[in-house]
Amino acid sequence: MCGIVGYIGDKSPVEVIMTGLHRLEYRGYDSSGVAVVGENGLDCVKSVGKLKIMDQKLEEHPLKGNLGIGHTRWATHGVPSEANSHPHFNGAKTIAVVHNGIIENYYELREQLQAAGVVFRSQTDTEVIAHLVDKYYEGDLFAAVKRALKDCEGAYAIGVICQDNPDVLVAARHGSPLIVGLGDNEGYIGSDVPAIMKYTRNVMYIENGHVCEITRAGVKIEDVDGNPVSMEVKTVEWDDAAAEKEGYPHFMLKEIHQQGAVLRNTLAGRIDEHSDSVRLTDMNIAPEELKACGKIFIVACGTAWHAGMVGKFLIEKFAKVPVELDLASEFRYRDPIIPPNSIMIPVSQSGETADTLEAIRIAKSRGAKVASIVNAVGSSVARESHGVVYQQAGPEIGVASTKAYTSQCMCFALFTIWLGQVRGTLDKDQVAMMIRELRAVPDKVDAILKNQDKVKELANRPEYRDAVGAFFLGRNYNFPSALEGALKLKEISYIHAEGYAAGEMKHGPIALVTNTFPVVCVAVKGETYEKMVSNIQEIKARAGLIISVATEGDESIQAHSNDVIYIPECYEPYSPILVAVPLQLLAYHISANLGRDVDQPRNLAKSVTVE
Ligand code: M6R
Repeated sequence: MCGIVGYIGDKSPVEVIMTGLHRLEYRGYDSSGVAVVGENGLDCVKSVGKLKIMDQKLEEHPLKGNLGIGHTRWATHGVPSEANSHPHFNGAKTIAVVHNGIIENYYELREQLQAAGVVFRSQTDTEVIAHLVDKYYEGDLFAAVKRALKDCEGAYAIGVICQDNPDVLVAARHGSPLIVGLGDNEGYIGSDVPAIMKYTRNVMYIENGHVCEITRAGVKIEDVDGNPVSMEVKTVEWDDAAAEKEGYPHFMLKEIHQQGAVLRNTLAGRIDEHSDSVRLTDMNIAPEELKACGKIFIVACGTAWHAGMVGKFLIEKFAKVPVELDLASEFRYRDPIIPPNSIMIPVSQSGETADTLEAIRIAKSRGAKVASIVNAVGSSVARESHGVVYQQAGPEIGVASTKAYTSQCMCFALFTIWLGQVRGTLDKDQVAMMIRELRAVPDKVDAILKNQDKVKELANRPEYRDAVGAFFLGRNYNFPSALEGALKLKEISYIHAEGYAAGEMKHGPIALVTNTFPVVCVAVKGETYEKMVSNIQEIKARAGLIISVATEGDESIQAHSNDVIYIPECYEPYSPILVAVPLQLLAYHISANLGRDVDQPRNLAKSVTVE
């Protein structure tokens, strides 16, 4: 986890860095720090806790100069404390380092350095980098960093400054994300694009093994052996306002409300108007490969895994290809059998999730074609895959995934139609109908968002807001909706919630149901509606408090439910996209009513870049 930012140029480095760190706070918020090279050499401010504390400290202790680096931390080695906050320094405090990642051989390096007389100030793995750079420094910071990195194993994105080289910012990447931004007579580094997009849209996505020397004149990139590397400058199209709250009290609420527009974006350019067919050219899978494919592997974590489950159900039902769905953290250890002609679809909003990346590497080494569903453009998952379908959802800042989930489901719907088209499991009429229904989804999402009063009212009722636990139940396409609804509630409200396939209740969980236990039942019209109603009646018979999510016009469900949230009538296979919205809103409003930190819930970070 962790976020890094750096700047060289005429602007105030503190202003640039703090703007960037606020954008990166989703990557961790245990502590933060900024170091600047100015007239009086290298100066630094650190603080434990959220960035607002850092803002205050910087007012009391302003840092001036033209070169600086900053960091927001999610602790891996060493407790959150000022001593463990980045930047870390060499013994003489002339060199400062910020780091995202883990130096895996740091014990060994630390012992070697200590044996040579180096005194460590922190418990972090990062500090070894500062001392190694110092060890190899002979007046050229770029050269010293390249040499130091040869000794380091593990993952890193680093920014390094030195008071004796006030015109140079050095950055390097291996495994953790890093971008370099270019401006007029200035340069930036950041963990991702939103960190610097207030200032520049011209970015380079740095590759593993590359080290950058950034000066006002431009960027020089080499590998650790000094071989030059050339790299394209890309223009970022994202709107800067996309990274701000735009008047909403929380990013999560803003992102929930963006979903209609986001889903239109996800569809944009993927449907051929003339032939009424889907095309996902960037997935880089030839029609022959789609036809020959005997098995699809979907790997992801958390919410993205729930979207993967929606994908599995769609693909198997309509394209008739068997799908194995794995949590990426399990896939990498279970020695999976990957037959020839297999396709892997990793799903990741950030594109930086460590377990998902490792699953990709395993699948590639065993011959699978890897085509990912990713939101963050240029991220590691996208770059390590053979092809990609970008979600086109824009930056997601709230830790709880919302628009990323619904757009991932939408990507799976598109992929399913494409696959069914090519393999001939869907005829022209079915394809046309499925496209028509898909196009109708964004308007239906907007309609749900316009009519939130019921959800808001429920979220403020003591029997729901103050509940100690809750179940979310669904069947078939909406089993993943139940899992996702429960995850949303628990991660941001801290109410214990579990999602179950409704048919599983009688196999144990129903024992927990009492007259104070809320059970959210997804009972939209479709194949398993009647079965779902039976499950609801079983809970009702045990006095459970039932909130049903049902299809507009279904009056009869009211007789079995304490409360009903309605969604517009829709094509059942796409209903998880619609169902997600009121469940997100329910979790959001309960969490906000409880005064929780909605966007940055405790113990979590947006991007899980360590195993
Ligand atoms: O960036 P990714 O989509 O790979 O992240 C995977 C999970 O960490 C993520 O979906 C997480 O479960 C959500 N933020 C929860 O809302």
